[in-house]
Amino acid sequence: IEPIDPVRYISNHSTGKMGYAIAAELASRGAQVTLISGQTALDVPDGVQRVDVLSAQNMFDAFIERFESADGAVMCAAVADYTPADPSPVKIKKSDDEMVIRLKRTPDIAATAGATKGDKLLVGFALETDNELENAVGKLHRKKFDFIVLNSLADPGAGFATDTNKITIIGKDGLQHPYPLEQKSDAARHIV
Ligand code: PMT
Repeated sequence: IEPIDPVRYISNHSTGKMGYAIAAELASRGAQVTLISGQTALDVPDGVQRVDVLSAQNMFDAFIERFESADGAVMCAAVADYTPADPSPVKIKKSDDEMVIRLKRTPDIAATAGATKGDKLLVGFALETDNELENAVGKLHRKKFDFIVLNSLADPGAGFATDTNKITIIGKDGLQHPYPLEQKSDAARHIV
């Protein structure tokens, strides 16, 4: 969530369902899991420690603080790439003119993690709408993921807000493994 003023923000359709399913799956297998989470209505999975954040910068700060002592990270959040450059401290009043909001880049959490990861395991996600494989493979290498999980909004039942997902896991060694449309809990099991 990237604030425009105290009452408005820029965000996207992510509900947290995919990320929470992965956290639950990892915890059920005995991992110590810290879930850095944007706003969601979901309950914290059993055995998981949740850290609440709002913006990309908040998530970056929370991540950097904890990454060094972790064995790895799964980067499932739909982090905003841009944020209003000058959020207003007071509610913006409407006028008859058009309005322009200038945006600046947010930190890329995954790319920062990739540059400092050493032998930690880093798993990324790619949410695509077109040129899916090419875009996902580009992100896999640019951000130095060990593997990336591709999901596409072109597949019915996949991506944001649904209880299901259709994923392809792509390894840095080039291995590609597509899975059928399945519950997010099953996709999480396959990822873990
Ligand atoms: O939450 P749900 O409703 O269940 O929906 C699940 C999901 C569609 C959000 C999830 O499956 C998913 O695809 N998450 C990643 C969405 C995304 O932002 O993808 P991307 O292709 O824009 O980003 C690539 C990678 O870089 C991701 O691992 C992302 O977490 C990371 N990133 C992106 C931008 C940024 N500033 N920092 C990042 O770390």
